[in-house]
Amino acid sequence: MEEQAKRKTVLSGIQPTSNLTLGNYLGALKNFVAMQQDFDSYYMVADMHAITVRQESARLRRRSIETLALFLACGIDPEKSTLFIQSHVPEHAMLTWVLSCNAYMGELNRMTQFKDKSARHADNINAGLFTYPVLMAADILLYQAHLIPVGADQKQHVELTRNLAERFNRAYGDTFVVPEPYIPKVGARIMSLQDPTSKMSKSDPNPNGFIAMLDDPDAIRRKLRRAVTDCEGCVTEDDSGRPGVYNLLTICSACSGSPVQEVSRELCGQGCGALKDRTADAVIAVLEPIQREYGRLLGDKQYLTDTLRQGAEKAGRTAQKTLRKVYHKVGFDSVKA
Ligand code: TYM
Repeated sequence: MEEQAKRKTVLSGIQPTSNLTLGNYLGALKNFVAMQQDFDSYYMVADMHAITVRQESARLRRRSIETLALFLACGIDPEKSTLFIQSHVPEHAMLTWVLSCNAYMGELNRMTQFKDKSARHADNINAGLFTYPVLMAADILLYQAHLIPVGADQKQHVELTRNLAERFNRAYGDTFVVPEPYIPKVGARIMSLQDPTSKMSKSDPNPNGFIAMLDDPDAIRRKLRRAVTDCEGCVTEDDSGRPGVYNLLTICSACSGSPVQEVSRELCGQGCGALKDRTADAVIAVLEPIQREYGRLLGDKQYLTDTLRQGAEKAGRTAQKTLRKVYHKVGFDSVKA
């Protein structure tokens, strides 16, 4: 029991916008599963974040459940972790308001994801897109999380969260744990298969650029065979300066568990075709069992609904505790709370 009380807390989330990619798995989900053994873990489907870009409601609802099923299929165990959908816990929106009043326009303006997304959705640069990192800070701070497993692209948002937590603590006295990002050594930034200088992304209009977690083995092999490498045919002992080859080595390493140098050494002198085949084998070995379990879980709607209900209750209890403290500190009347 005492052991339990000392465990640190982990929180992370993934947007349910479309098929998750191998990048989401290697940068985030894989670590969610590993970390639940040693931490008090909260993992959420970030549906509130998803509506910063216009969504079709029935589709978003379905995707949220499917994303939850994928979390479970990867090995997140609802007995060990609290699994929930963000919008089921209203405290996220409530804390966001308080934090918004402590966030500066200037610091939000510097967020690179805001700049990228506004460029991509120039017809819908809404205020939510701008304040999105504040909602993310609320997600983290509500659960007093110590560690945030994310890919490299989310590091800036976790840093903003740290700044907001420290600012609030200075103004109102110790309230929030100041979190740290947890970014994996291998897999923090999986690149597009078609343009290895940009991130693999689920919103890439070219499906050959990414491997979806639900792609079948033939599609995985085909996409990897078409992956852009470079014209020097062979794998060498050090390919860190060759973005396309290095991306495949990283994927192969992260999926097989062998260090990059070991994969390089084994394939040294062989053509890129051999590396592509080896990578496809490693990716399929990881994704196939997840896909089988995902299919099974989707057939068990009752289990998914029960898991969500329990998750929302558990997450809600923790979130309410923090929010009550915050409301009191900022001077809101507690009669109703
Ligand atoms: P999202 O949904 O864009 O991505 C989910 C996670 O996947 C990681 N990721 C990648 N990692 C490596 N290589 C890639 N190509 C790649 N693409 C995506 C992301 O870094 C992320 O960890 N705002 C977040 C979701 C969120 C969240 C939170 C995360 C909402 N609240 C609180 C942590 C804590 C997002 O949009 O991630």
